[in-house]
Amino acid sequence: MTKACMKASRSLIRDFGEIENLQVSTKGPGDFVTSADRRTEKILIDELQKAHPEYGIITEETGIINKSNLKQRWIIDPIDGTLNFLNGIPQFAISIGYEEDGEIKSGVIFNPIMNEMFCAEKGNGAFLNNSRIRVSNKKLIQNALLVTGGPKAASKIKDKIFEEYANISKKVSNVRKFGSAALDMSYVACGRFDGYWQRELNYWDIAAGIIIVKEAGGFVDYFEEDQNLPLKKNILATNSNLYEKLKEFINKKDIE
Ligand code: IPD
Ligand code: CA
Ligand code: CA
Repeated sequence: MTKACMKASRSLIRDFGEIENLQVSTKGPGDFVTSADRRTEKILIDELQKAHPEYGIITEETGIINKSNLKQRWIIDPIDGTLNFLNGIPQFAISIGYEEDGEIKSGVIFNPIMNEMFCAEKGNGAFLNNSRIRVSNKKLIQNALLVTGGPKAASKIKDKIFEEYANISKKVSNVRKFGSAALDMSYVACGRFDGYWQRELNYWDIAAGIIIVKEAGGFVDYFEEDQNLPLKKNILATNSNLYEKLKEFINKKDIE
């Protein structure tokens, strides 16, 4: 997984370098970004399939490959943080999770511009490049720096999401919106943020992040799950001290 990531990142870095030129062109970078997404995804799929052609794959751009293998699957987001990428902001990442029997067992999230590789494997801890990482030790939710994201332009629950954002903001030190769910979770894992929550995500946004946060000693949970939409997720991820409080705050309208 790390090898596939490193290979794909080479063309992604080149593509990111092009964005600045395209920003000032009349056509804009829109189509170019779509092709960068596809190019990155193709390299990832090719590399991963070389290692395990029999595994299933769920990707953002291509959809589901090898539908019959539900036991072992890779969950890929070639660029998480596309809007940042499109605007020349270096806050985006390649994200690959490996799922076995319905559970994420390992994950890699790589920001090629910052050269930060977050990875984890069940039972073996979480790492940023070669150093072991841990979630923060913050105990009081009023001191917590959280991160969230959304709503998407097409969201039907924008008001609810904004209301929740306002409510939670009043209860904590501050809330950031950085635009890459994969990196948001990685930052919780290494203690830069104390917690993260977000609605209306896709599985590939967070698959790798789940194991990275867990192996860094954090808690990950879903809320208001829709059993009919298994690839849609509402998620929270925190250190163990703040988990109960954040869960309580989510969707609570009457907190002041
Ligand atoms: C998006 C990012 C963003 C989140 C959106 C996602 P994309 O993924 O993770 O942080 O707020 O909900 O769709 O489209 O950049 O791969
Ligand atoms: Ca994504
Ligand atoms: Ca994406």
